Amino acid sequence: MEAITSKSLSSLLLFFFLVLCFSAGALTSADSTSSAPDDFIHASCGATRYPAICVECLKSYAPTVHRSPRQLALAALAVTADRARSASTFVSGLTPGTKPARSREAGAVQDCVETMQDSVDRLRQSVREMNRMGRAQSSRFTWHLDNVQTWVSAALTDVNTCLDSLAQNGSGRVRTAIRNKVVEVSQLTSNALALVNRLDPRN
Ligand SMILES: *[C@@H]1O[C@H](CO)[C@@H](O)[C@H](O)[C@H]1NC(C)=O
Repeated sequence: MEAITSKSLSSLLLFFFLVLCFSAGALTSADSTSSAPDDFIHASCGATRYPAICVECLKSYAPTVHRSPRQLALAALAVTADRARSASTFVSGLTPGTKPARSREAGAVQDCVETMQDSVDRLRQSVREMNRMGRAQSSRFTWHLDNVQTWVSAALTDVNTCLDSLAQNGSGRVRTAIRNKVVEVSQLTSNALALVNRLDPRN
């Protein structure tokens, strides 16, 4: 049963990244004089688990990122924190509409409210930490990088915990309403972590 759910989820996903990141893509092509996607962003996103959504969500940052892996990771974290925040707000807004009789579902929604808020905090904290890193390969750099890696991994766990709880205890209505947004955040978080890990001189 879970396998079927995952399959239909994947097709929904494809639909969703097209919808949610399309506007960013459309804006970029309208604003930019060249329609060629940024090679650096393409190459870097190639190392992530979800390269298509990675490029779609980050290509509008090409002018500020230039060819800096650090700026790209920072942009990825900022976009992810922003999407996590809007998913979190959306999930919180669903709570009053949940019927008390459906206590399992209410529990799943409540779990998601908590874990999504937690993920937003960790992602924002990571953005701040990225701005505190010194020169690459200094001990200060690796210390801050370790923190970012820890927090982004924890944020990913949070988001996936929300998904698990929805998969197990959410009704069809709630799943449809929340899940796509949360899945997108999960993919963006995974990608951001991969881009952060590329900064690690110990890799
Ligand atoms: C689903 O609900 C049950 C009963 O409230 C709970 O024990 C279980 O942990 C929930 N599952 C998840 C994945 O949160």
